[in-house]
Amino acid sequence: MKTALITGISGQDGYFLTTLLLQKGYVVHGIVRRNSQASIGTLRYVDDTDRARVQIHWGDVTDHVFIERLFREHDFDEVYHLAAQSFVGLSFDNPKLTYDVNIGGTLNVVNAVKEFRPKAKMYFAATSEMFGKVHETPQTEETPFHPRSPYGISKLAGFWTMKNYREAYNLFFVNGILFNHESEHRGEEFVTKKVSKAVARISKGSDEVLMVGNLDAKRDWGYAGEYVEGMWRMMQQTEPDDYVLATGTTHSVREFIESAFRCVNMPITWSGNNLEEVAFTADGRVVVRIDPTFFRPSEVDVLIGDPSKAERVLGWKARMRFDELVRVMVEHELATV
Ligand code: NAP
Ligand code: GDD
Repeated sequence: MKTALITGISGQDGYFLTTLLLQKGYVVHGIVRRNSQASIGTLRYVDDTDRARVQIHWGDVTDHVFIERLFREHDFDEVYHLAAQSFVGLSFDNPKLTYDVNIGGTLNVVNAVKEFRPKAKMYFAATSEMFGKVHETPQTEETPFHPRSPYGISKLAGFWTMKNYREAYNLFFVNGILFNHESEHRGEEFVTKKVSKAVARISKGSDEVLMVGNLDAKRDWGYAGEYVEGMWRMMQQTEPDDYVLATGTTHSVREFIESAFRCVNMPITWSGNNLEEVAFTADGRVVVRIDPTFFRPSEVDVLIGDPSKAERVLGWKARMRFDELVRVMVEHELATV
């Protein structure tokens, strides 16, 4: 029976990875940050009997004393390092926090693996944000990086730290370069969750207007439940390597909003330009407006990944298509509004 540690277990991917590893018979340990409500985040969606099989360690990845003690006291076969300040928008306002958690926290974990559990395999949650102002399309494992946010820069530091430790100390360290993946358990501030929730509320009678930023940003959006399977497969290889996980398709925020309103039988049409652009429903009601506070100082305009290496080596392929993903997210909100 294998033992895994998941940092960031209380986030979106933490939920799906916990579920997957428990199904596979792993003993699962997870790090959860202490908060005043003793909230365990998305772990609350894991059913009670399964959750009882998860050993929670309350702590913060920036605390090296805590991390070292954890690794000294417990042996892990696999370490999935998902914990991060993961919101790109916030990273512009809080670059120091973002670097402390995403670089400093990552350094604490990699050093603990190196010092105490060098036989363990380690996964790092790298990201398509590292491609930023893209140098080629679609993006592969060989595409040069050009991050556009403190978040992207912090993840690039983690990515290179993993590569360097792999080369310097012969450790089984892998980077998953994952493109956007969403789900019903997506964090509240990400655009897909924000849109799905607002559209569900509007369809049930709310008179609110959905306020968004850049409608023309394009992302390669897949389903998170499938991406954790890719993470696990990377860790089952005989040699450590880096892999892109993506759908190979891209859609704009505008298309996401249109698709979400179609799910509730409220097709929209756009009118106006730039900050004055609005979306109307068939009865002439304005349901979407632009709020410049949601624009980023430097934007990642278009991301589209080439997952062929993961398909070839890992036998992994994204299955859920864009419209189905939007439907899953909107229907989840309709059931909970
Ligand atoms: P998420 O929902 O924001 O989860 C992040 C997790 O990290 C949460 O459990 C959070 O705890 C934890 N965390 C944050 N700061 C911490 C700290 N100082 N100490 C301990 N834990 C801390 O993110 P996600 O969507 O699951 O993504 C998982 C990882 O993949 C992240 O590293 C993200 O940057 C990366 N990634 C995500 C995507 C995507 O599209 N989802 C794509 C590429 C890469 P709280 O619950 O207390 O906040
Ligand atoms: N959040 C948000 N809110 N984004 C908006 C909004 C809005 O109201 N309006 C437009 N957008 C645009 C953003 O400017 C961005 O171009 C796009 O929608 C997606 O934004 P997010 O959903 O916040 O995700 P992200 O692409 O910046 O970052 C996510 O994906 C990365 C992988 O590429 C996060 O999960 C990162 O942690 C992950 O690394």
